[in-house]
Amino acid sequence: MTTALITGAAGAIGQAIATALGDAGMRLALADLDPDAAIAGLPAHLRGRAAAHRLDVTDDTSCAAVTAAVDDLSLLVNAAGVMVRRTALQTGVATFQHVLDVNLTGAYRMARAAHPALATNRGSIVSISSTHAFLAARGSFAYGVSKAGVSHLTRLLALEWAADGIRVNAVAPTVVPSAMTADVLADPAYVDRKMAAIPLGAPVAPAHVAAAVAYLASPAAASTTGQILVLDGGESLA
Ligand SMILES: NC(=O)c1ccc[n+]([C@@H]2O[C@H](COP(=O)([O-])OP(=O)(O)OC[C@H]3O[C@@H](n4cnc5c(N)ncnc54)[C@H](O)[C@@H]3O)[C@@H](O)[C@H]2O)c1
Repeated sequence: MTTALITGAAGAIGQAIATALGDAGMRLALADLDPDAAIAGLPAHLRGRAAAHRLDVTDDTSCAAVTAAVDDLSLLVNAAGVMVRRTALQTGVATFQHVLDVNLTGAYRMARAAHPALATNRGSIVSISSTHAFLAARGSFAYGVSKAGVSHLTRLLALEWAADGIRVNAVAPTVVPSAMTADVLADPAYVDRKMAAIPLGAPVAPAHVAAAVAYLASPAAASTTGQILVLDGGESLA
């Protein structure tokens, strides 16, 4: 049985991904700033095949230690992330650097740390990008820049690591209900505006993100690398 290492595993999306991959038969390494919440959020029937690790993706030593502690690592899912809802002028350099450090450099740190095991096991990486990577949304400046970076990191790692047998892909959802979006989804004006912009008229379920991750990680996607699978209910069509 091979192991999936999931960062941000205490979040709504990380939990759904862990559940889908566990139900697909993988062992789970759940990594988060809050490992207790990560394990508590996993359905009871999967806890026997899961281990939780405290991880700070902004810390090289933490990324290396967690990656080294995982046996038979064949899938890295980069789902750790932070959102700051500020414009460019409101953000400031320190906050900008922090958001990039978690969302973009964190994915790079984890990919580097996982590379030897993924090359040995002919594994893959799936990162959670966002529609913010390619739609210029007002008011979340650092986040949008960081996710554009995650999408291009995906393409460049796919190109460089194909020869090592490692596939690298990403999923780019529009709004998903989670702690990260609880504030905006509680605002009726935001919800009206956002749902009007999404032709299918609904947020993306965490389980739909998880299903896309499970597909990209599976042998069925053996020909797919460097791709960003957009889950936006058609938002980017118009
Ligand atoms: N919710 C959405 O609408 C949405 C849409 C597109 C993409 N995403 C992305 O999906 C991923 C998961 O988001 P979510 O909605 O589940 O949010 P969430 O806030 O519920 O979960 C994020 C998780 O990341 C962890 N985390 C934050 N900083 C960390 C660090 N330094 N080291 C390790 N873990 C850290 C948090 O502890 C938390 O458990 C993020 O990358 C997010 O940007 C979310």
